[in-house]
Amino acid sequence: MKVTVFGIGYVGLVQAAVLSEVGHHVCCVDVDADKIEQLKKGNIPIYEPGLTALVKSNSEAGRIIFTTDIKEGVHFADIQFIAVGTPPDDTGAADLKYVLNVAKTIAMHMQRSKIIVDKSTVPVGTADKVSETIGSKLRAKNLNLTYSVVSNPEFLKEGSAIADCMRPDRIIIGIRPNDNKEHIQEVFRDLYAPFNRNHDRIIFMDARSAELTKYAANCMLATKVSFMNEMANIAEKVGADIEDVRQGIGSDERIGYHFIYPGCGYGGSCFPKDIQALSRTSMVIGYQPELLHAVEAINNRQKNKLMEYINIHFNGNVAGKTFALWGLSFKPKTDDMREAPSRVLMEALWESEANIQAFDPEAMGEARRIYGTRKDLALMSSKEAALHDADALVICTEWQNFKAPDFDVIKEKLKSPVIIDGRNLFDPEQLKEKGIEYYAIGRGLSVAGVNVS
Ligand SMILES: NC(=O)c1ccc[n+]([C@@H]2O[C@H](COP(=O)([O-])OP(=O)(O)OC[C@H]3O[C@@H](n4cnc5c(N)ncnc54)[C@H](O)[C@@H]3O)[C@@H](O)[C@H]2O)c1
Repeated sequence: MKVTVFGIGYVGLVQAAVLSEVGHHVCCVDVDADKIEQLKKGNIPIYEPGLTALVKSNSEAGRIIFTTDIKEGVHFADIQFIAVGTPPDDTGAADLKYVLNVAKTIAMHMQRSKIIVDKSTVPVGTADKVSETIGSKLRAKNLNLTYSVVSNPEFLKEGSAIADCMRPDRIIIGIRPNDNKEHIQEVFRDLYAPFNRNHDRIIFMDARSAELTKYAANCMLATKVSFMNEMANIAEKVGADIEDVRQGIGSDERIGYHFIYPGCGYGGSCFPKDIQALSRTSMVIGYQPELLHAVEAINNRQKNKLMEYINIHFNGNVAGKTFALWGLSFKPKTDDMREAPSRVLMEALWESEANIQAFDPEAMGEARRIYGTRKDLALMSSKEAALHDADALVICTEWQNFKAPDFDVIKEKLKSPVIIDGRNLFDPEQLKEKGIEYYAIGRGLSVAGVNVS
């Protein structure tokens, strides 16, 4: 089958790669000419495990093409995916201008019937808005073409995006009440058949429910994180160890072990903006989303936690000190630093006139792009190099190769043996034996011997 994807970011590029890998033909359209030029040369603008090889082999096989020519994209296929960004506007609501721009341009060049697919995360009612936008453009051109707008939200996780799309937990297809349900169901069953062999993963529903499903999923996950961070903060005050508590509650199968890790806060391009967007949607319809507000507030507070520990340890005297920072991306296996806790920490350290020596396996280029060259930020060639003569080590991201470091090397290279760990990677007892002071999240009096107030 043929598919056009508008918006070749994380979602668009991964979807295009995966669809072409199973034999579909995909035309990728983006307004960023430089990005398209690079992609044509085989240069992948983001780090995502397995993506480069997939894009390269399918480009060579002619199953995936890249263009900035919107008309070419519209004519290429009868299925048109919209995968552009939906960042928050001034009020926190999802800004739909990119989505609606694509809808307008599709309508401008449409000459035959199309299925337009919202892949972007969009508020309830957006499929209707996209449909109205296309309808009014077609009417203005006196064109009487049939089209449907389908909600097909994306659930991939950065870092395992290829696997998530190859073997999705579920494929949600939301159909608007007056659209041709049977035809749409048939098209999506065919399109996603290669990903649906093991068991039926497709869940058909109405478009509004599909749109809300995506927000509900992300808000639920963000809630789990903030809940655990709240428990961690309580554990710290009462002298309990959140890691024991985590295992204690995870063993209840109604709770489970997944996604209940305490830490220095969630980030990324999705949870923060989706919580805000659903809160905004709720308030617009006159419902106060108390839980969503609390989830966001807890997360914002949690992102200051590492700086709080630093200030406790150094009695607020951090000016002129140097901090080794391991991990810049918002989570492992990505170079994405959008809303990353590391950014809150770095900006707080700079505010206090401290210096940073940072290392991240993939996000160094992104850090340079965001912060440019500055004398209080040194991007180091390895995690060991970052330690050299630093006053403390701070960990923001749980990359695999941070999990079993040589503590003797850490001790030898740091000016003073202190680790402030935003991801609870180490055993406090082991570090105590090594003579390293260790601050972790919610590990109470057993860890650093401080009562954070
Ligand atoms: N990143 C994720 O992990 C993830 C997961 C699930 C869902 N989503 C959702 O998917 C959507 C896209 O997210 P992303 O992270 O891929 O965004 P992104 O910022 O990485 O990419 C968006 C792309 O759209 C392009 N674009 C903007 N206007 C365009 C236009 N008119 N025509 C063609 N291209 C245009 C931009 O140049 C950019 O390359 C968002 O709504 C996001 O919430 C993201």
